[in-house]
Amino acid sequence: MKVAVFSARSYDRRFLDEANGASPTSPPTELVYFDVALDADTAALAHGCQAVCVFVNDRLDAPALHALAGLGVGAVLLRCAGFNNVDLTVALDLGLFVARVPSYSPEAVAEHTLALVMTLNRQTHRAYNRVRDGNFMLEGLLGSTLHGKTVGIVGTGKIGLATARIFHGMGCTVLGCDPYPSPLFEPLGHMAPLEELLARSDIVTLHCPLTEASKHMIDAAALSRMKAGAMLVNTSRGALVDTTAVIKALKSRQLGHLAIDVYEQEGALFFQDRSGEIIDDDVFQRLMTFPNVLVTGHQGFFTVEALREISTATLVNLRHFIESTPCPNRVNAAS
Ligand code: NAI
Repeated sequence: MKVAVFSARSYDRRFLDEANGASPTSPPTELVYFDVALDADTAALAHGCQAVCVFVNDRLDAPALHALAGLGVGAVLLRCAGFNNVDLTVALDLGLFVARVPSYSPEAVAEHTLALVMTLNRQTHRAYNRVRDGNFMLEGLLGSTLHGKTVGIVGTGKIGLATARIFHGMGCTVLGCDPYPSPLFEPLGHMAPLEELLARSDIVTLHCPLTEASKHMIDAAALSRMKAGAMLVNTSRGALVDTTAVIKALKSRQLGHLAIDVYEQEGALFFQDRSGEIIDDDVFQRLMTFPNVLVTGHQGFFTVEALREISTATLVNLRHFIESTPCPNRVNAAS
């Protein structure tokens, strides 16, 4: 069994090779690594492979999926939970096996959410640079005490719950909003409709999936409902937020802080070293000019524990494909 691994970085190779060595398949699985992202133009690299293994910014649209199926590829193994980058209707029509890793250390993303909030609130990123430069002034570093503040969590699934536990433990009032409320949230806070959550929260953090319905859920109207000066955090998917509306809200001071680990057009930027290049994305570049904006490049999941779990679960999914056994992580029309 030959698997083409796209968007492969050194850490993908390390953890996938480790997992492959620890749990060999019969016949043995050969992992072929490609740095490039998968799309209709690069799909041909999977020639001779029976499966492809992809990440968040690989584009499995109709042309890419048709090209893969034409090469005899039978399986798409996602090294992530979200599958908004796969045209599922086409994949299922073509009879492709699509499987994801639904959970890999939700705490990793929740802890990164906390890191973003704490950094932005207490300006530790600026303090670090100042002190290294021999500047010990405190002007401009004023934060607020989070204890007693209200944190609104949009999506109280695995990551939302882990985030709720952290902020509850810090003495914050926690509000949650989810069409399918979890009983596990009950001891941590109160459920509220989105409009109420936006109006009451000092920090709003997004942990729901990107779907047609949730796209741009944080638009100009939602931003105007938020408390003036509140913080918005997005570690979920970029397109949950209308970035142009966010820039307007930052300029008008309605939005006090923005912390994002994901960005609507991140596919053209993230997971690459572009430090020597001119970045053409003017919207992203405008975001970079605000002192109250913090951006990380989709690293919420990036812990040893999560990478180990992603690799192990991906190879278990592959084994289900090889052995035609029921795969609990298979993505189907109802997912
Ligand atoms: P989950 O499936 O456990 O939870 C998602 C929750 O959102 C569910 O309870 C669902 O009912 C709720 N939901 C759906 N639509 C909603 C809406 N319109 N408003 C409010 N709630 C809604 O998923 P999990 O594991 O907690 O992941 C959440 C998201 O985090 C993923 O969809 C993915 O986009 C993102 N993610 C980001 C990572 C990163 O590295 N930054 C890593 C892993 C996931």
